[in-house]
Amino acid sequence: MKIRKAVIPVAGLGTRFLPATKAIPKEMLTVVDRPTIQYIVEEVVASGIEQVILVTSEGKSAIENHFDYDFELDTILKMKKKDRMAEELNHVSNLIDIVSVRQKKPLGLGHAIWSTRDVVGDEPFAVLLGDDLVLSDQPCCQQMIALFDVVQESIVAVQRVPMDQTGNYGIVEGKPYNDRTYEINKMIEKPAPGITDSNMAIIGRYILLPEIFSLLEQTRPGHGGEIQLTDALLKLSQQRAMYAYEFQGTRFDAGDKLGYLKAIVAFGLRHSELGEPFRKHLKQVSENL
Ligand code: G1P
Repeated sequence: MKIRKAVIPVAGLGTRFLPATKAIPKEMLTVVDRPTIQYIVEEVVASGIEQVILVTSEGKSAIENHFDYDFELDTILKMKKKDRMAEELNHVSNLIDIVSVRQKKPLGLGHAIWSTRDVVGDEPFAVLLGDDLVLSDQPCCQQMIALFDVVQESIVAVQRVPMDQTGNYGIVEGKPYNDRTYEINKMIEKPAPGITDSNMAIIGRYILLPEIFSLLEQTRPGHGGEIQLTDALLKLSQQRAMYAYEFQGTRFDAGDKLGYLKAIVAFGLRHSELGEPFRKHLKQVSENL
């Protein structure tokens, strides 16, 4: 089956990024010239997906506005002969069909995904977490869809992390399936030291079968008192095959202050107009460090 829908949870409070995120959603923080959420939606579009389902909460309307058509702004920009900017904004509002679902209580990622069950329906779908920006030649989500076309089972994107950081991630254990893919036999959300030898960490890209919804419904609060997607995935992996995919590309944790700075440098260097002058500037700065 084709992957037509992508769920993007954006209901989180962004406490790791205070005070910047006190009055604006963390997904609206800018990397170079666009908010981080736009990179995620662009990845979805480039992966051939047709609809985005945002899981929102109070105070997140700036995200919906960003992807909406703004008649007043469009008229003013055209009057001022700023046609190129008007075109760019229209490109953003025409990117993709977006619907929003409210997560009524902050009960965790698993609960956020469960909130989309009626909109997703009975078909496989992608999940992209807004904190994880991936810089790659082929969009990470598209790489995963290519694998899904072959295996037709759930997939989580993984990367190796230093052992002392495994407690920040969902960790998977598995046996090699092919070059970049592992068949999962265990998953643990944010393991305490010594619980696992694996350093294969889930990053925020998933392809899920709709069977996940009934499992999420039965999932009791886990790590941090939240309903964890990883716990429901573990149950699904015990019922049928599930794969971990080591994607090609570099992932940035844009929800973390240092990760965000690294993302700005990496995306700045890749920017079509700013890349070259920015590279020169960075060279100068590093020589003077
Ligand atoms: C979530 C998931 C975790 C995953 C991580 C990737 O955690 O629960 O399994 O490794 O995203 O970014 P969070 O970072 O939201 O605490």
